[in-house]
Amino acid sequence: MSDKVVLAYSGGLDTSVAIRWLKENYKLEVIALTIDVGNERDFSAIQQKALKVGAVKALVTDAKELFVNYFVFPALQADAIYEGQYPLATALARPLMAKLLVDTAVEEGASAVAHGCTGKGNDQVRFDVGVNTLAPALKIIAPAREWGMTREQTINYAQRYNIPVLITAASPYSIDENLWGRSIECGVLEDPWVESPEEVFTWTKSPSEAPNKPHYVEIGFDKGIPVTVNGQKMDGVSLIRRLNELAGRHGVGRIDHLENRLIGIKSREIYEAPAATVLLQAHQALEAMTLSKEQLRFKQKVAVEYADLIYNGLWFTSQHQDLAAYVNSSQRFVTGTVRLKLFKGSCSVVGRKSPFSLYNYGLATYDKGDEFDQSASPGFIHIWGLPVKTQAQVQGVGGLGEEFKE
Ligand code: ARG
Repeated sequence: MSDKVVLAYSGGLDTSVAIRWLKENYKLEVIALTIDVGNERDFSAIQQKALKVGAVKALVTDAKELFVNYFVFPALQADAIYEGQYPLATALARPLMAKLLVDTAVEEGASAVAHGCTGKGNDQVRFDVGVNTLAPALKIIAPAREWGMTREQTINYAQRYNIPVLITAASPYSIDENLWGRSIECGVLEDPWVESPEEVFTWTKSPSEAPNKPHYVEIGFDKGIPVTVNGQKMDGVSLIRRLNELAGRHGVGRIDHLENRLIGIKSREIYEAPAATVLLQAHQALEAMTLSKEQLRFKQKVAVEYADLIYNGLWFTSQHQDLAAYVNSSQRFVTGTVRLKLFKGSCSVVGRKSPFSLYNYGLATYDKGDEFDQSASPGFIHIWGLPVKTQAQVQGVGGLGEEFKE
């Protein structure tokens, strides 16, 4: 019996060609593993295709709940958004896939795992670092990084071996989808000056065609985890699906980003992330109400670190474990409800409430019922400004432009 490799199989061109290529070039039996992270595909068709193309076994794993509970929601609690724009859908799914690849390799007695990533992207790093960390003895094969074929040559290879090809000249995009978002690359998008054509979007309506009436939605959070929509309790997977549909219908969640890849190139990426856009905004609004100013400031720094480590393939690290502990602790009072308005591509927070709110009406109001002791302010200001005044008297006034000096 020949040796085995477990291939992360999407059913697309590259991974289908990879089944054949691995057999031919490595003389390995290929076990195709398709991981359902909410990409709404016909998984039995994908399974059939894997077998037809030459896999000895085709497995499908429903990983939606694992994905949401252990990857998406912790990232939401952390407010992880790469470069302030990308909610990290693709990046978050990779470490989970690496883990499932490793588990399957152990179960099936395979000596290698394989994935369809090229040598130019971030995903290869996420897969390889993940697999290497979890199972250093496993060999990793990335056919698309090795075979040196152009897209056209890959299509020719597929045709030669009767591998069904779905990509047409009209749809030259590379797409990755899961519950947290849809990532679109290639084709005309590679010109950063060109507006992305309407055809790349499938989850979101064009804002100009979205309903003319705003839609209000209320999201309830428990310790930073979204648990209700309009008061109705929902499990994570259903809640995200519901919001993808609802916000998508109002054109919310389109992102056009020119992003810094880990391997040093800038690339133009289009994302559709309706649920992520709504939930991240709602979560931040609730944190603004329930966390102190210092907690918020520090947490923003943690959010940048957290997003970078997810993006850069460092999920299985001690640094992650330590940041996650901070984030988790920070969420103990992030409970309450946020009301948002979805309207023609925009999503705005219009209300928030929490049993742990730090907003104090008596302190904030300018109406009667004001409890703030205004007579205490001059003393506070005197001490606050003391070092400023002292320095200016010795070293001159800083921050005063030439135009104000004679
Ligand atoms: N740039 C994003 C990331 O690195 C998305 C990659 C999406 N991959 C794709 N095949 N379209 O996370």
